[in-house]
Amino acid sequence: MTAEITWLGHSCFAIRSGKHELLIDPFLNDSPVAPKQADDVAADFVLLTHGHFDHVADAVAIAQRTGATIVANFEIGEWLKAQGVAEDRVVAMNTGGAVDLAFGNVKMTTAIHSSGLPDGSYGGVAGGFLLQLERQRLYLAGDTALTLDMKLIGMAGLDLAVLPIGDLFTMGPDDSIEAIKMLNPQKVIPCHFNTWPPIEQDATNWADRVRSHTAAEPVVLQPGESHSL
Ligand code: NI
Ligand code: MN
Repeated sequence: MTAEITWLGHSCFAIRSGKHELLIDPFLNDSPVAPKQADDVAADFVLLTHGHFDHVADAVAIAQRTGATIVANFEIGEWLKAQGVAEDRVVAMNTGGAVDLAFGNVKMTTAIHSSGLPDGSYGGVAGGFLLQLERQRLYLAGDTALTLDMKLIGMAGLDLAVLPIGDLFTMGPDDSIEAIKMLNPQKVIPCHFNTWPPIEQDATNWADRVRSHTAAEPVVLQPGESHSL
């Protein structure tokens, strides 16, 4: 069964696997680059890598409208319930843990980053996700620095890695090349760049470097574009 991933700008992705619709880090209504508004996306599951506004912004509204289940770390899970999300629609987990859900298995990976929530609440630690879909294994790094843990994450065997390349708040293009060497994915999609001037990057140049220095196939999407896995 094929899966399809669509970039909704910044770190927001929609992933369709079989009949399941996953939405990662929904930041749409206030994003300068999002091709859709929060009212226009479908979701059965919303996955949040950490608590920053540019990752959780529209999560509660989308979950309330769609009835989606939200997957996040324990502290964000508590915050979501305090925002009115029903307890049985929150899957709270923590770094290194994994859980089977309707679409497959999700494991929360380490990330080197912070996680404060928009209202100042403590958001636990930042993470990423290792997703085992029906046929494909995906790694969504979230916001992170380059870390040797990526060597371990890559040992799972990855069909796709999604990595930030914007620099300043996360790793930049140089470190992403080292990350790709450790992760050794079949394909790699860049994100967390070109949302605002401080994180502008040349994705074409980045893709050339990925081709010449790693074994991965770079897949550069424009916001709104999809790629089949
Ligand atoms: Ni962040
Ligand atoms: Mn971010």
